[in-house]
Amino acid sequence: MSKLLITGRKRLSGEAAVQGAKNSALPVLAAAALVGGESVIFNCPDLSDTDTSLNILRYLGCGARREGGAVVIKNDGVARYDIPDGLTRKTRGSIVFLGALLAKLGRAKISLPGGCDIGNRPIDLHIKALRRMGAVIRERRGMLDCRAPHGLTGTHIALDFPSVGATEDIMLAAATADGTTTLTNAAREPEIADLAEYLNRCGARVFGAGESEIVIEGVKRLSAAEHSIIPDRIAAATLLACAAVTGSQITLKGVIHSHLGAIVPVLEDAGCTFTRHENELTISAPQRLRSMKTVRTMPYPGFPTDAQAPVLAAAAVADGTTVFIENIFENRYRHASQLVRMGADIRTEGKLAVVEGVPSLYGARVEATDLRAAAALVAAGLCAEGQTAVSGVEYLERGYESLELTLSALGADIKRI
Ligand code: EPZ
Repeated sequence: MSKLLITGRKRLSGEAAVQGAKNSALPVLAAAALVGGESVIFNCPDLSDTDTSLNILRYLGCGARREGGAVVIKNDGVARYDIPDGLTRKTRGSIVFLGALLAKLGRAKISLPGGCDIGNRPIDLHIKALRRMGAVIRERRGMLDCRAPHGLTGTHIALDFPSVGATEDIMLAAATADGTTTLTNAAREPEIADLAEYLNRCGARVFGAGESEIVIEGVKRLSAAEHSIIPDRIAAATLLACAAVTGSQITLKGVIHSHLGAIVPVLEDAGCTFTRHENELTISAPQRLRSMKTVRTMPYPGFPTDAQAPVLAAAAVADGTTVFIENIFENRYRHASQLVRMGADIRTEGKLAVVEGVPSLYGARVEATDLRAAAALVAAGLCAEGQTAVSGVEYLERGYESLELTLSALGADIKRI
């Protein structure tokens, strides 16, 4: 089990390119199972989660290879409809293969994706929607056995909650369904619009992605296309939090400013200033951050739950009290106890975390329990006195393309052991 060793209080400087978005690449790779021919996906981040998706595509009978920053998927016909347990358990992103396989083969067998440390992650909204489209879904011994004996039929679907994964699953199921699907209360995350763009390049007819109502007119078949994945807004937010906690000025290259619309103001409240130039964003952080008062996670375009952990690490060393309200996942403060080991003053109660800023954090041995918790501990290590050892680095690799190399190129003293 590898660890990261960080010696804190090093100022960062320079510029960093933002990776492609993990949460766009995963559904786009699942969509590649739907389209015949050879798709080229540019700016696909090199992560263990995307590797898992490529392994699932290979298992299903597609060719999948990396060529530099791009991934080439050759699909001459998906031969299998089941996804082995070992592959689905590795990433939640695999659930979105359900809609694609049902649409392509009328059959799908997939193990219930493991819950993870941020909550039990049910998929009831996915199942309810696919059943409304004509799927017969049986849950037995942790396996989902799904059939669409008469194919999938377009219909009206209203989501109880704007679930990102359910929205994507429905889009993939509806793209080649018989008739039109209207999806209301759809998730509005930028990754949804990115998936729609790829599907439409392949010949789908998806309208309104990015809004609360999406209309999908089923088409007969989809054929491969090229697509470039949008920048990862959460990876960008993580680098901004690292700059904020170290009083640094850095420039991020390749951002889409509108995707950071809820994140930048929170860091501005903390005293950071920003300048924008085309697709570059420069952050200048003060020596000492001010508290952000209240940070409430919400579905997009609200403050993203995935940015909560790294921003909470910044709040831990800000002047004053910051109250976090985590509205999306029920157990997403696992990083708090580890930050307290480093001297942070954090009290959590259900959705709430009350963070009293302290003068400084101190290096300690800490353990990551999930992807964004790992990012929070790295950010904390960058500003702590002394040395911090972060274990559970494999969580980091799920969502960040060599974060430690990016940070050391910016001047951080961070190495993997
Ligand atoms: C996606 O997860 C992201 N993952 C998550 O990123 C992100 O935190 C989340 O969206 C919210 O933005 C990927 O895209 C691979 P949801 P997803 O369905 O689709 C409840 C990261 O760190 N819910 O929008 O699983 C669910 O329990 C990861 O990159 C149901 O109740 O999120 C949660 O409370 C973490 N029933 C809420 O909705 C369902 O059928 C949001 O879940 C589905 C979801």
